[in-house]
Amino acid sequence: MSSKVLILNGPNLNMLGTREVEIYGKDTLADIEAKVRARADGTAMEIDFRQSNSEAELVDWIQQAQGIFDGIIINAGAYTHTSIAILDALNMVDLPIIEVHLSNIFRRESFRKESYIADAANGLITGFGGTGYLLALEAMSELTDTGTQI
Ligand code: DQA
Repeated sequence: MSSKVLILNGPNLNMLGTREVEIYGKDTLADIEAKVRARADGTAMEIDFRQSNSEAELVDWIQQAQGIFDGIIINAGAYTHTSIAILDALNMVDLPIIEVHLSNIFRRESFRKESYIADAANGLITGFGGTGYLLALEAMSELTDTGTQI
């Protein structure tokens, strides 16, 4: 049995590689996507990797995920700390959800310490850079119960 995992990236993550590299590292989002695909390759995990700067588009993608995907991994960027709309959408879908952040949001400004997404997530991985996406994939393979070794 295979599982389809939707990986969503929010605003400004398209600028990784040049954006505040001392915080987010030198990897571009395409580099991270390539590492995720390499890790999933040869397993029963199928990846759909997306980025949007638009809150509405992220909400649309979450709404459409039910029945198509088996789990959602999400780095909502700054919407993490502001978006009740994304929280509501995540609460609506009956899928395992893993929240990821490149930086450790609990070591930064106080406004980053609150995550609306966390209320809907099975778990949260924060502070391991792009490796966090690989850890999330590993956790998702358990949550989707595919028996996949990744
Ligand atoms: C981030 C953390 C957020 O606070 C910030 O707004 C981002 C990136 C991270 O991956 O560390 O855009 O989600």
